Amino acid sequence: MLVSMKAILEDANKHYYGVMAMNSINIEMARAGILAAEEEHSPIIIQFGPGQMKKHAHAEEMMPVIKELAERVFVPVALNLDHGTDFYVIADCINRGFTNVMFDGSALSFRENIKRTSVVTALAHQKGCSVEGELGHVGQAVNSDDTDRDLYTNPDLAVEFVKKTGIDALAVAIGTAHGAYPKGKIPKLDFERLVQLKSALNMPLVLHGGSGSGEENLRKAIAGGINKINVCTDAFEAGKQAMLAVLKEDSSLDYMNLCMAAEAGIKSFVKDYMKIIGSAGRYCYGETLAAGYE
Ligand code: 13P
Repeated sequence: MLVSMKAILEDANKHYYGVMAMNSINIEMARAGILAAEEEHSPIIIQFGPGQMKKHAHAEEMMPVIKELAERVFVPVALNLDHGTDFYVIADCINRGFTNVMFDGSALSFRENIKRTSVVTALAHQKGCSVEGELGHVGQAVNSDDTDRDLYTNPDLAVEFVKKTGIDALAVAIGTAHGAYPKGKIPKLDFERLVQLKSALNMPLVLHGGSGSGEENLRKAIAGGINKINVCTDAFEAGKQAMLAVLKEDSSLDYMNLCMAAEAGIKSFVKDYMKIIGSAGRYCYGETLAAGYE
């Protein structure tokens, strides 16, 4: 069912596990994620950003599809606007029934980021929609330099930021970056800072740039207090590789079969991911219901 992202992340925060937020730009990706969640008894967050919405995943088309898919399953599904910056796009998503919006003010000054994030929070909360903010800046993996700590999230400022904006989840910069890292590179994350942030804030924390982080980093990040992991590049790659694999077997395959292969590949990727980040098995309704009928 479609629920608020806040509700999903509050449970993850309480029980120290991570929830996958997959950028899903079409029906195949959304269905792969939601059905994987149902099979794994896990929550999931489906999201896309303004650029993806403009190019391909148009909100007015995606929203009814995701709502329909979410309502068919008995696990929590949230729909999030990723990296919102434009107030009109954010308002449009809130009005359409997105259950969370992210306001990305990470390129702004601290003061301006607080000001604009607070406006979004005030508006979204009135419509029952939760808000993710970002402090510090998560850059791009192609030119990432994880020794440049100036852009990492400062715990003292984070406390002030959360207090003044009223956000429900905070995206933190601790060493990951968006996109594919140069070949062979695994980012070095600042776990000490993460623990400081978690103990100062005790609220849901978000890791952007989940792709290419490596299993060990993911497990440690969750142990340190990350509750939402954004994944785009690796999910796209899972779909692409699944298509290439079936094409290699049979190059005469038609478009529908390619789409089906991509969906199956992404679903399998998501299911594995849910086991790593600890969200699998959190909503074992089968057992709960069965116990109730005994
Ligand atoms: P990746 O493409 O690196 O997984 O980043 C996704 C993301 O953080 C979306 O906000």
